[in-house]
Amino acid sequence: MNEREQWGSRIGFILAAVGSAIGLGNIWRFPYMAYENGGGAFLIPYIFAMLTAGIPFMILEFGLGHKFRGSAPKTFAAINPKWEWLGWMQVLVAFVISVYYIAIIGWSIAYTGFAVTQAWGEAPKDFFFGSFLGLTGSPFDLGGIQNTILIAMLIGWGITWAACVSGVKTGIERAGKVLMPTLFVLLLVMIARVVSLPGAQEGLNWLFKPDFSALSNYKVWVAAYGQIFFTLSIGFAIMIAYSSYLPKKADINNNACMTVFINCGFSMAAGVMIFSVLGYMAAKQGVGVNEVVSGGVGLAFITIPTAINLMPMPALFGTLFFLSLTMAGVSSHISIVEACISAFMDKMEWSRAKATNIICGVGLVVSLAFCTGAGLLILDIVDHFINNFGIMGAALVEIFFVAWLCNLDVVRDHVNRNSEFYVGTVWSVCLRFVTVPMLAFLFVTNLWGDLSTLYGGYSLVSIVTLGWVVFVATVVVGFMLQARRSPADFVSITDNSL
Ligand code: PHE
Ligand code: NA
Repeated sequence: MNEREQWGSRIGFILAAVGSAIGLGNIWRFPYMAYENGGGAFLIPYIFAMLTAGIPFMILEFGLGHKFRGSAPKTFAAINPKWEWLGWMQVLVAFVISVYYIAIIGWSIAYTGFAVTQAWGEAPKDFFFGSFLGLTGSPFDLGGIQNTILIAMLIGWGITWAACVSGVKTGIERAGKVLMPTLFVLLLVMIARVVSLPGAQEGLNWLFKPDFSALSNYKVWVAAYGQIFFTLSIGFAIMIAYSSYLPKKADINNNACMTVFINCGFSMAAGVMIFSVLGYMAAKQGVGVNEVVSGGVGLAFITIPTAINLMPMPALFGTLFFLSLTMAGVSSHISIVEACISAFMDKMEWSRAKATNIICGVGLVVSLAFCTGAGLLILDIVDHFINNFGIMGAALVEIFFVAWLCNLDVVRDHVNRNSEFYVGTVWSVCLRFVTVPMLAFLFVTNLWGDLSTLYGGYSLVSIVTLGWVVFVATVVVGFMLQARRSPADFVSITDNSL
């Protein structure tokens, strides 16, 4: 058995973890959520969620990966062989995400090119849905393969493949060291470019104007907790896999805090950039900021191109923006795919090259569905169910299992061993009594919502097949993989008394 690979340096590990955490969500989800949920006042529940759930959970995941030195399935199997499926469920959720996340990266790559000449023309919305996506009317009406998207997506897979096949230190760590600092610089340049545009101030007022009455609405708190799990990439095999490559003497608590702070700081800076642009756009069009604000795909591929058309030197900001989106996306995608690779290397004893080729190959084939005219519709449904049930569900079961059914104190002693500062009772209390109930509440609320209405007005058949079946399959296939024979070192790791 070979030695497990290791990060080359502490900063390398942190940049890789940050690379996973900082993704599309920091740019297109956080600013919109803050705006929708009380503006400046949203920072209170957000920071509260960060402190009571984000940091404790990050410490827990880093601790588990570091202690058991394994991917998610290996880690849970080491704690208790009956729980290996949970690791696989997380890996499968990651795999599903990898096949559609890459489509959005493909769009970003294509738009980076378009930005040079504003190829989207005078009507970015028609361009995006029409000639670019070739959008059809239903998730089962595939239309044709969109060649531009296909080519861009192949480039995306190529980058991820190259990073993963080269290994933890020479591939993934190096990618993070290049992508993250570059991304920070790009964001700073963009902020410098847009904050002084006319109307930017007005946009920022909209984002930060605190509406304290929002704090009495439980939905705002639920939104804050939901965003924290998503934004930190915790609960779906990634951070466990990344921390399994840490050297024995790593400072878990400190690394976890740094990762969380850098991610959340980036989100706020991205919010400043986005709302400056929206403020400028509203001023130019002579409308209120509330009339142009949006999030998600619509923000990135319709609203921002519209704003770019109105800017002086549009090509400059346009290329910077879509390049940033691409870099944020690629570094997250590498981490999603690595979570799968490490699991198959551990369980099947595949070489890194074999695992990377098989996972990227199968992923590429499945992701072809997202290059069709139905791509956006399929993506919308799969993403909704995987986020609300896959990520939330797996995170909930994980914390419940470790914090309630296992001896959490063993993990606590482990994470404190080489750390500059210690976590104590507050940490355990946060996991047991804040994070678990909050996640359970979120999960039940989501379940209730999706059982009582068909998401997005799609047909029942499409919701069942692309939503529920995909979600349930992550659990069922998880149990099937657990039933397969494991290599000798899979469960008999040194001391696994939890
Ligand atoms: N944390 C990422 C973000 O905020 C989301 C993400 C990362 C999703 C990795 C999946 C996998 O955008
Ligand atoms: Na994030």
